[in-house]
Amino acid sequence: MPDRGDRGAPAVKIGSMGPAGEVCEEVFPGPCSMVIFGASGDLARRKLIPSLFKLSRDKLLSKNFFIIGASRTELDDGSFRAMMEEAVRETGDLDAGAWADFSARLYYLKIDYGEKEAYKRVKGLLAEREKAHGTGGNRIFYLATPPLLYTNIIENLAAADLSAGGKLIIEKPYGRDLKSALALEQTVLKHFSEEQVFRIDHYLGKDTVQNILMLRFANSIFEPIWNRRYIDHVQITVAETVGVEKRAGYYEQAGVLRDMFQNHMLQVLSFIAMEPPSVFESELVRDERVKVFRALRPLDTGNIGGSLVLGQYVEGEVDGRPVPGYAEEENVARDSSVPTYAAMKVYIDNWRWQGVPFYLRSGKRLKTRFSQVTIQFKGVPHLMFRETLGGGEIGPNALVLRIQPDERVQMKFHAKSPGSKVCLRDVLMDFSYTEGYRGIEIDDYERVLVDCMLGDKMLFVRRDGVELTWSFLTPVLEMYEARQTPELNLYRAGSYGPMEADKFIARDNRKWAAYE
Ligand code: BG6
Repeated sequence: MPDRGDRGAPAVKIGSMGPAGEVCEEVFPGPCSMVIFGASGDLARRKLIPSLFKLSRDKLLSKNFFIIGASRTELDDGSFRAMMEEAVRETGDLDAGAWADFSARLYYLKIDYGEKEAYKRVKGLLAEREKAHGTGGNRIFYLATPPLLYTNIIENLAAADLSAGGKLIIEKPYGRDLKSALALEQTVLKHFSEEQVFRIDHYLGKDTVQNILMLRFANSIFEPIWNRRYIDHVQITVAETVGVEKRAGYYEQAGVLRDMFQNHMLQVLSFIAMEPPSVFESELVRDERVKVFRALRPLDTGNIGGSLVLGQYVEGEVDGRPVPGYAEEENVARDSSVPTYAAMKVYIDNWRWQGVPFYLRSGKRLKTRFSQVTIQFKGVPHLMFRETLGGGEIGPNALVLRIQPDERVQMKFHAKSPGSKVCLRDVLMDFSYTEGYRGIEIDDYERVLVDCMLGDKMLFVRRDGVELTWSFLTPVLEMYEARQTPELNLYRAGSYGPMEADKFIARDNRKWAAYE
């Protein structure tokens, strides 16, 4: 096996046939540098630096790699490294030897984002460190600042002649509605080509989300029944126990529809609903995902209550600890009407999915944390066991794709109970995602960071995808913000969300998959 940590060359591909029929292809990135704008912020501390450190520790990065952190905070290389060491320690992944090697590649530059001269300093430091680390000119600029600053940074990067050839990673929120997303798009594409732009949705980096494609298209048993003839409905749930935390400034402007639906929820939906491309290739996969967005049936704003329920948490208890309501959180307006929960019914108007409802729900401060897709199949056409079961009904079959935290795939079906009586019982076929795997696991941010270094755009959001998802949600957002319709239902922190969401699905004669 080649030494993964010592490559001066561009990406290296390793194809292998692992144990027990494992077919892998691993690709490692070549030399590169990364400038993180917003380096002292929450995202850099909680996600970016810990992920980059783990990649480096696990020898998944080139040795010719370095990072420049840039932000407004007064720091130098030493204090920046100490701050990041603390951040990695908090994740529990700190390893002294690996940290010494990694931190020697960390530099810091205090900048004022609006000051043109600052970008000349970025350019100077980049050139100097590129020589020292032998990275060549493979540069990545990561916008991890508040989105208000994006335009300014992009324009200043271009003015300092830094846009040519570099890659640009943009974090969500990518605009706050269709109009602002288009305006941002215009600035971005004035200075960078679409080829250079990487719009992150970290949900796409989750192994279990990618597994949706493997499950569907590497097996012959699922696809024939993956359609309106056999599927009754689909449920996509992202339940969180955390509240708004220290992000009220952002969340008050966003709410759950912008924070979770415009991106993660609809992206997962696209993996579930897309057609198979002819080849597993980035643009072809992205084409198919975008076709799903194009086929979304607009929500009926004339009867929005029929397809959308919104909620906001009030004080309660999560994991045995009392927690405040949303409107009592730090920096949240006491009369805030920002939704922290949404349940939505969506239809996809195409041949495969006509008439099949997709129920999407996501909320903060719920009872348990889990993300899951449940594919619920139609019942048997004729129940020959009716007499035997004393007239009772049997429940439907379901395929459960547990995205996190306990990653697994489960098939729910019925079987005869052992013994002399004729009794049916519900049983579960259960596959745990990491069982039997002994290799290195990488998380969502690690995946998308590596893919960006490699220039692989399959797991990034394309320009048309951003526009279509905003086109779908903007009318509803505008309606809610102008008229507060549908009304906001309060739910207790630590509960299952507002009862109205259950009533809403019950009206369709269906029941949400259990929160476990
Ligand atoms: C982020 C949202 O994109 O995703 C957060 O801004 C949310 O509000 C988070 O908590 C959820 O991600 P994960 O990976 O923890 O499920």
